Amino acid sequence: MKSYTLHRHVQLFRFGDPFETESLCYPGENLIPQEEVELPEFDIFKNNGITVLTYQLEKQDRVIGLGESVGGINKRGRVIEAYATDDPIHTPDKRALYGAHNYLFIAGNKNLGIYLDFPGKISYDIGFSHPDRMIITIDGGDFDLYVFRHDDLLEAVRSFRKLQGVGYAPPKWAFGNQQSRWSYDTADKVREVADNMRKKWLPCDAIYLDIDYMENYKDFTVDETKFPDFRQFVEEMKIRGFRLIPIIDAGVKIEPGYHVYDEGVEKKYFCINEKDQPFVAAVWPGWVHFPDFQQPEVRQWFGKQYQVLTDYGIEGFWNDMNEPSVFYTEESLGTFIQKAKECEGKNIDLEDFFVLKDLFEALSANPDAYQKMHQISETKKIQHHQIHNLYGFNMTRAAAEGIEKIDPNKRYLLFSRSSFTGMGRYAGLWTGDNYSWWEHILLMIKMLPALNMGGFLYIGADIGGFGGDASPDLLVRWTQASLLTPLFRNHSAIGTRNQEPYSFDHWTTEAIRKMLELRYALIPYIYSEYMKAALHHDLYFKPLSFEYIDEHSMEVEDQLLVGESVMMAPIYQENARGRYVWVPEEMLLWKTVMNHQDEFQVIKPGHHYMHLELDETALFIRKNKMIVLAEPAQNVDLMNFDRLTVLAFVDGEATYGYYDDDGETTNYKLEKNIKMMIRIRQHHNDYQIDVELKSSVTISKIHFMLTNPAGEFAEMDYDVSSGEIHKGSN
Ligand code: GLC
Repeated sequence: MKSYTLHRHVQLFRFGDPFETESLCYPGENLIPQEEVELPEFDIFKNNGITVLTYQLEKQDRVIGLGESVGGINKRGRVIEAYATDDPIHTPDKRALYGAHNYLFIAGNKNLGIYLDFPGKISYDIGFSHPDRMIITIDGGDFDLYVFRHDDLLEAVRSFRKLQGVGYAPPKWAFGNQQSRWSYDTADKVREVADNMRKKWLPCDAIYLDIDYMENYKDFTVDETKFPDFRQFVEEMKIRGFRLIPIIDAGVKIEPGYHVYDEGVEKKYFCINEKDQPFVAAVWPGWVHFPDFQQPEVRQWFGKQYQVLTDYGIEGFWNDMNEPSVFYTEESLGTFIQKAKECEGKNIDLEDFFVLKDLFEALSANPDAYQKMHQISETKKIQHHQIHNLYGFNMTRAAAEGIEKIDPNKRYLLFSRSSFTGMGRYAGLWTGDNYSWWEHILLMIKMLPALNMGGFLYIGADIGGFGGDASPDLLVRWTQASLLTPLFRNHSAIGTRNQEPYSFDHWTTEAIRKMLELRYALIPYIYSEYMKAALHHDLYFKPLSFEYIDEHSMEVEDQLLVGESVMMAPIYQENARGRYVWVPEEMLLWKTVMNHQDEFQVIKPGHHYMHLELDETALFIRKNKMIVLAEPAQNVDLMNFDRLTVLAFVDGEATYGYYDDDGETTNYKLEKNIKMMIRIRQHHNDYQIDVELKSSVTISKIHFMLTNPAGEFAEMDYDVSSGEIHKGSN
């Protein structure tokens, strides 16, 4: 083991000769090794090519991180596996989901953060087998271990994030509401969704095209029978204010004459089997080959293909099935069919039945396939299993780099299902196939900060749940809980009940409209906080324990801090008309209600029962903080960001740096785009407001809504051209 000091608080321990994952931007080759730096926190044990790191957990230690996984914000008591898996049933016992996120932060008397840069399988037994031990089992002996030793947890996260580079910046319209379903499978169906959205005044920026827009599930094709004159159609929808977002899958259909297949075979761009032939597996189109995204040339080639769709006017994509998902292989199907034949006509007993059933269930997500598939890395043939977790990351990197070449100055929407650390530089992610279960609202809340820690900022879950049937109240509560998620998309599976916001009764549609309008009103704040987090290696979603040190804040699992000014505490229980909230400091509760004036109430620190009817949405504004709002519109392009409202809770003095930019070009830099610094000083019910605007700013008017700790409310207008404040106006 060699060790290197990267920074006063960051050390790298190199075990053996690690595979270069390129998850970090750190220039590894310039490192100068040091002699005998110790790693006192871990016992290290190597056996049979496996490495086991054991950490002694103190009673009060909390283990936070590990990105996309089931379980709490505090992962203590669980086993989590980093091995990208297409498993659509996210029950509490599941150990692996779509991404592999090898970072965790231990918070206790001492803080310690680690990142394991290793592309194969790792298992984290966090006090499951032994309550006071964390046992990390790495399926190999060559890996990099980064150790972050900061007194402040947030600083430790920032150090890790800095090594990854600046986060992905989506276009501003991608913060609007997006509507999806598997599938709106004809142009007319898409038109119908657009018509309904506009007819019911439901703001919406994007409609998704799932696998059925393609010709027989072939990437980079469009089925002209279902979508005649696609270019014209994309244009028509854009004029109506909707972007269309097609899906791209990892598997390339085997079909001679299909250009992607032909070229891939000819140039040897696909993953191979033991005999160096293209590896064959089945996904949506039947038999496919998987592009070998490990090879830079293949990434370039695949990335270029996106131009087929950008030439039609497409401005966003979602990459799917890139664990990669395998439905079956010839071998696994053959074994199953043979067993089935053996059973035919027989009186199947218990044993045979379970063998048959197990063989059937093992057809999909069968790790055997990953042992047989191989990839090429710098001329070396590597078993896919060894570098399995990089597949989705490199597919998405291929897309991002390809798209960048197509138009270097334009921001595209891009997110992926599978991911690895570092992908947050290129794209966002969604949390895959959740269910229309109340439990999955809470699961989403818990995953958000864990994903942010690993640099995944543009994130969200399928609102309303993907599998199963959504009830109207579930959709309403899920919409509230997602109010501030950067990716805000309602998506559902084929065969389930329709769950577009207009698919239920009139009351539900109206209630959701109110929430969507609130979402749009919040976009200046969401965008400002998102971009600051991306550019400054910061967290957009934080557990309360990152800012408050009281014992309750350490344990809260169902409330989050969002950006610098807001705490969210959504309802995620069926039939609940309220919930308990832990309020760690005095805050302003802002309730929006359908068909009524908003309500504001100063809440003292402590435990509170917050009453919240189905149509009521609550946000908490932190003390001496503010949020920036705009008038909602039917889509982001129609919003006017020149007239803003500032909602503040001031006890003495509050300041805020408001970030904004053109929202569409890659010409963004933090310092340049802090458009305005606001300072509000409060004395009783008197306020002094200073607004410092950067040149080139077009903001013309700011309406201030101010509350002091006595609960007194004041409103005033700030006229930018004259610099005058008009009190009491609106
Ligand atoms: C996968 C995706 C899902 C998509 C479906 C069909 O299950 O996770 O979002 O709708 O495939 O493409």
